[in-house]
Amino acid sequence: MSNMPRKPAAEITVDQLLARGARALQRAGVQCLQGTADFRDEAAMIIWHELGLDHDDPGAGQQPVTAAAQARCEALLQRRAAERIPAAYLLGEAWFCGLPFHVDQRVLIPRSPFAELVEARFAPWADPGPAPRILEIGTGSGCIAIACALAFPGAEVLATDISADALAVAAANVARHGVGARLRLLQADLYDGVEGRFDLIVSNPPYVPESDLQVMPPELAWEPRSALAGGGADGLDLVRRIIAGAPTHLRPGGWLAVEVGAGMAALERAFPQLAFVWPEFERGGDGIALVAAGDLPEDNDAPGATAPGH
Ligand SMILES: C[S@@+](CC[C@H](N)C(=O)[O-])C[C@H]1O[C@@H](n2cnc3c(N)ncnc32)[C@H](O)[C@@H]1O
Repeated sequence: MSNMPRKPAAEITVDQLLARGARALQRAGVQCLQGTADFRDEAAMIIWHELGLDHDDPGAGQQPVTAAAQARCEALLQRRAAERIPAAYLLGEAWFCGLPFHVDQRVLIPRSPFAELVEARFAPWADPGPAPRILEIGTGSGCIAIACALAFPGAEVLATDISADALAVAAANVARHGVGARLRLLQADLYDGVEGRFDLIVSNPPYVPESDLQVMPPELAWEPRSALAGGGADGLDLVRRIIAGAPTHLRPGGWLAVEVGAGMAALERAFPQLAFVWPEFERGGDGIALVAAGDLPEDNDAPGATAPGH
């Protein structure tokens, strides 16, 4: 009996590993908030990355997984479940506009519905032309600014962030995507040191209301506080300053696009005189306000420019 050759353990397929992984994440109660739609999507992100599979390969699910590769994937899934660490930080990578970005705990994990606006080149609302000047405020990983630079090959892009740590990650991504000749990074508090006027100003600033910061899922606690907090009681403190500064930084015919998430009604209340456009997104998400330069007050004294009580 002891001399009989041992039968190797049967290999499982990628699909079987995926089903097990998704069930494990569901049992652990992880929250899928950072760019994935559900447990299966979350498990697939980890497994496809770890095994080097192609998301466009329809046969990937039927491939056998070696015991060693299975163990590697299960170790990552285990950390995702036990530590509630976001998958993108485990892998060091996130996708935005179909592009890979390096991410780590210095930056927010890319997931903004801005991706759809950039892919549509802001049509049918803004028409920035073939060679626009674009300003991004609060660039984080650089994902929106870099995707804009690639969507508009003639564009000149300036991307600011108050965090030197975030800008270091953005710089790595600018180099990765080869857009350094047209995209400049600047450490700045909103518009400080920003010169000239722009055809487009885009921003996904921190907008989580203070009270919501106390009750965040564990996954969000891994992200930089400065990427989520700073919006004050209603989340809109930075948004008010971005809107107030837009008239002196936009060219005639330009547009401001600013994300406020669940703060849509609060923004409408704060600026009743502004004609915001709220695009609907096919892939989910909402809360990006577009406003044309011509509709913005020049004097910055309009109601809403200052938060009540500030
Ligand atoms: C919600 S994150 C967005 C990151 C990236 N644009 C994205 O969509 O994934 C907000 C970013 O704004 C930056 N930020 C916070 N306060 C700022 C300020 N006063 N001026 C400029 N950037 C700021 C944060 O450091 C963070 O990188």
